[in-house]
Amino acid sequence: MKATAIAPANIAFIKYWGKSDESLRLPLNDSLSMNLNNTYTKTTVEFSSDFSRDEILLANGIFSDQEKQRVIKNLNVMRNKAETRLCARVVTENTFPKGGGAAASASGFAALTVAAFSALGIKLSEKELTSFARMGSGSACRSIPDGFVEWKKGETHNASYAYSLYPHDYWDLRDILVIVDAGMKKVPTTEGMSAVRTSPLLPARLAALPERITRIKEAMKQKNFQQFGEIVEEECLDMHHVMQTQNPPLYYWNNVTQEIMDAVAGWRKNGLSVYFTIDAGPNVHLICEGKNEKNVIKVLKSRIRLCRKIIVNKPAKGARVL
Ligand code: PMV
Repeated sequence: MKATAIAPANIAFIKYWGKSDESLRLPLNDSLSMNLNNTYTKTTVEFSSDFSRDEILLANGIFSDQEKQRVIKNLNVMRNKAETRLCARVVTENTFPKGGGAAASASGFAALTVAAFSALGIKLSEKELTSFARMGSGSACRSIPDGFVEWKKGETHNASYAYSLYPHDYWDLRDILVIVDAGMKKVPTTEGMSAVRTSPLLPARLAALPERITRIKEAMKQKNFQQFGEIVEEECLDMHHVMQTQNPPLYYWNNVTQEIMDAVAGWRKNGLSVYFTIDAGPNVHLICEGKNEKNVIKVLKSRIRLCRKIIVNKPAKGARVL
């Protein structure tokens, strides 16, 4: 009873920040993302009566005890569904640093869910798989369907799921991920978003989101990159304003993050169509069209202080069994 799956990380254009139900990980709002082809996780899960306890291994790094417990909790949910008590050996490998805003938990829990159900011989629909991945890490549900994905918040386990809005080859976009800091983020997202209601800006954010989602979907339908990019930045700043006005405040940016954001505004003034978005870490995702990839990398490399390690991503397929 063994299976291997890979799953891409995803970058959210409309972000998930805050839950309506902590244990089911139901989000406060719908969100929207793109899968990334060069930042993914490969996970092998084996269930066997030879194992007396779960073993959780990261091939190219170390999982903390807390991270291992979270994986075991998610395995328990899947074992309950499969009505088994077999222990598992889980081996995971990432192509990128975890914990720095590059969404390793999204690709990680998506790969774990797909590999574990396959190893258990349980056939679920893509929609059901997304709901189970969500139980591990909210954003993981968006790493299962193809390409450009929407997560419907829902009010119950089954109603909170993700689906593909457009396949990966619908729009030739790039996510140029600038790794500003490869270390672990200071405050994990689960902890950070548990205090979301202390931000006085949350009600305004939740009120604005349905209209913002309609606008971004229209821009995607028209493939209007400028409109799309403006909404992506507006949304990123809105989420970070909520984070920064929580009690205690959360600052995931650092000086280099800020410098890149300023540089992007300058590049745009000079006619280069590129926008930024940032998750819960200092790393910056530069979003552009495929035709501008080389130009963005060129201006980035001309600013040595800003350009550390970069990962160039195209839109990707969702999670799958190998
Ligand atoms: O699913 P989590 O717990 O990794 O939370 C993801 C939160 C953000 O990355 C900040 C936003 C998002 O929608 O991906």
